[in-house]
Amino acid sequence: MTIREMTLADYHDLVRLLAGTPGVTLRDADSYEATARYLARNPGLSFVALSNVEGRSLSNVEGSKRQPMVKVRSPLDNTSTLLSVKLGDRVNEAPVDEEAIIGCVMAGHDGRRGYLQHLVVLPEYRRQGIGAALVHTCLAALAQQGIDKTHIFVFADNIPGNAFWRAQGWIPREEINMYSFIYSGAENA
Ligand SMILES: CC(C)(COP(=O)(O)OP(=O)(O)OC[C@H]1O[C@@H](n2cnc3c(N)ncnc32)[C@H](O)[C@@H]1OP(=O)(O)O)[C@@H](O)C(=O)NCCC(=O)NCCS
Repeated sequence: MTIREMTLADYHDLVRLLAGTPGVTLRDADSYEATARYLARNPGLSFVALSNVEGRSLSNVEGSKRQPMVKVRSPLDNTSTLLSVKLGDRVNEAPVDEEAIIGCVMAGHDGRRGYLQHLVVLPEYRRQGIGAALVHTCLAALAQQGIDKTHIFVFADNIPGNAFWRAQGWIPREEINMYSFIYSGAENA
């Protein structure tokens, strides 16, 4: 599995990934033009996970007595980090399409706080540490831009999604109400 920076060329694959994922809602703000604007305003902060040759090496460590690890190549400085993962049999059985996008995350900041969105991993690749690796990459990229604190909005009824963020040590903000306003009145803004 490799993580690289998301580009606009990934747009159609991303929409397919997001649209097929329960818990993720696509809005007008996910149009091609809006995504182009978002990536241009927030360079180096959104990432995709690819299944590729390195992904196959997951099977090499199965059965090893060591804690299973996956090598994640950082698109920031091209260094590799070993993250511990839980291996699932399905990784070995799944047809591996080199360079297929199996996960994504988008991030931006307002100069003070970071905001993550659209973290998704394909169902057959979940519970192997890929979601955590995507978040780790994003937070490292935000830190390089001076952003230390980051927020995520998660639907309250997204039970696995909320479990994921809590497991990563993110703190639910029960003291805060979120308010939104749509200037145009568009229903799916
Ligand atoms: C949330 C999501 C991105 C997690 O991706 P993932 O690659 O499976 O996450 P990881 O393997 O890195 O999980 C790390 C830890 O988070 C927790 N976690 C992840 N998925 C969980 C689930 N379904 N239920 C409970 N805990 C979960 C676990 O503690 C897990 O560690 P473990 O597998 O050793 O128990 C993935 O489930 C997904 O795409 N969901 C649909 C989209 C979504 O809801 N996104 C989040 C809202 S923004």
